[in-house]
Amino acid sequence: MITRREMLLASGGIMIAGGTLNPSQAIAAEAKQLVYHTTAPNNAEPKLDDLVKSWITPTKHFYVRSHAPNPVVDTDRFELQVAGMVNRPASLSLKDLDRFKTHSTTATLTCAGNRRSEYNAEGKVGGVPWQSGAIGNATWQGVGLADVLKQAEVTPDAKHVWFEGLDEIEKGGGIIPFGGSIPIAKAMIGSGAGAPLLANGMNGAPLTADHGFPLRTLVPGYIGARSVKWLGRIVVSDRPSPNHYLATAYKLVKNTDPIEWAESGPIYRYPINAAICTPKQDSKHPAGELDLTGYVLPTGRQGTTVEKVLISADQGKRWTEATMVGKDSEFCWQLWNAKVKVTTTTKRLMVRALDTSGGFMPYRVPWNAKGYLQNSWYKMPVQVN
Ligand code: MTE
Repeated sequence: MITRREMLLASGGIMIAGGTLNPSQAIAAEAKQLVYHTTAPNNAEPKLDDLVKSWITPTKHFYVRSHAPNPVVDTDRFELQVAGMVNRPASLSLKDLDRFKTHSTTATLTCAGNRRSEYNAEGKVGGVPWQSGAIGNATWQGVGLADVLKQAEVTPDAKHVWFEGLDEIEKGGGIIPFGGSIPIAKAMIGSGAGAPLLANGMNGAPLTADHGFPLRTLVPGYIGARSVKWLGRIVVSDRPSPNHYLATAYKLVKNTDPIEWAESGPIYRYPINAAICTPKQDSKHPAGELDLTGYVLPTGRQGTTVEKVLISADQGKRWTEATMVGKDSEFCWQLWNAKVKVTTTTKRLMVRALDTSGGFMPYRVPWNAKGYLQNSWYKMPVQVN
């Protein structure tokens, strides 16, 4: 856990005794270097050549996905509510959270809508038109969600843990917070790389406002939507969260008919995925050897890692195996590089990946109305002459 003192010191060394800390003034975050789809709310992704510069994504190159403008949270008054099917409901200040054991976990966060724009070739999809940069790998500091739940004494019939943010999203004529839930079995994982955190730090510094200051959940292996930013409330329940972003959105549907929504289940895990990050789409190259770099993320399941990444420059007749860079882990991406031979007949490069449990990226993914979970072979046009 980044301590409250560290939070204050990192924010410019200003300790205001009994005063109010305004995070937008206090957190002198390094300027983001991203391509913005929208501002207020901020929705932005890095340029792909920046994304593959290091295995740990610096915060300045880490994508941001927010449904409403960043809320300003008064850290002196902040209390995390823990309620529902627990014997000991609690209201925890940041100081109270400092008393739990500190955890540090490296995990990749990816938006369910990463690569969404590729669906548009088949039919228009709504939402932020992500390219392939809605992904990043960071080291997160915080306390274990399971430790906080154990202290609250979860009752035996609990099945889901709901999270609720402090943001205010305009929806259907009203204001709702962003929220969601995860199954109790995932929530209670208390150790190892798959353990969910209540994180207050990212890459060794306090969370920035964009990433959920002062507290967020970090659920390794699940789509980014389950890692709720500006966390304000945890509710333990016997059913999944009724919040819009679990009960309706973030589902694979063919249309936005309410019956379709009701009949499909929430997305939790993401599938194996990979992309080429350099060179650029449509770039020009002489015939010969071409250097490629990219990322690959295994599906976030305990025990499953990446088996291999394959690249073809001739429509799938021959495949070259990429060299992996970075730690082989269930919950983190790996970067890769490869050299492929391109000729004047090469029109595009294709990438696919396989995992150690027989999972693979399919040639094509069925279109869905919200453009989620695009993990078909990554196909990138290039010009060779
Ligand atoms: N939490 C809140 N409170 N509000 C949000 O809009 N967006 C979610 C999730 N948590 C969101 C949220 C989505 S869809 C994603 S992909 C991740 O945050 C993105 O996290 P990041 O902005 O830190 O990259």
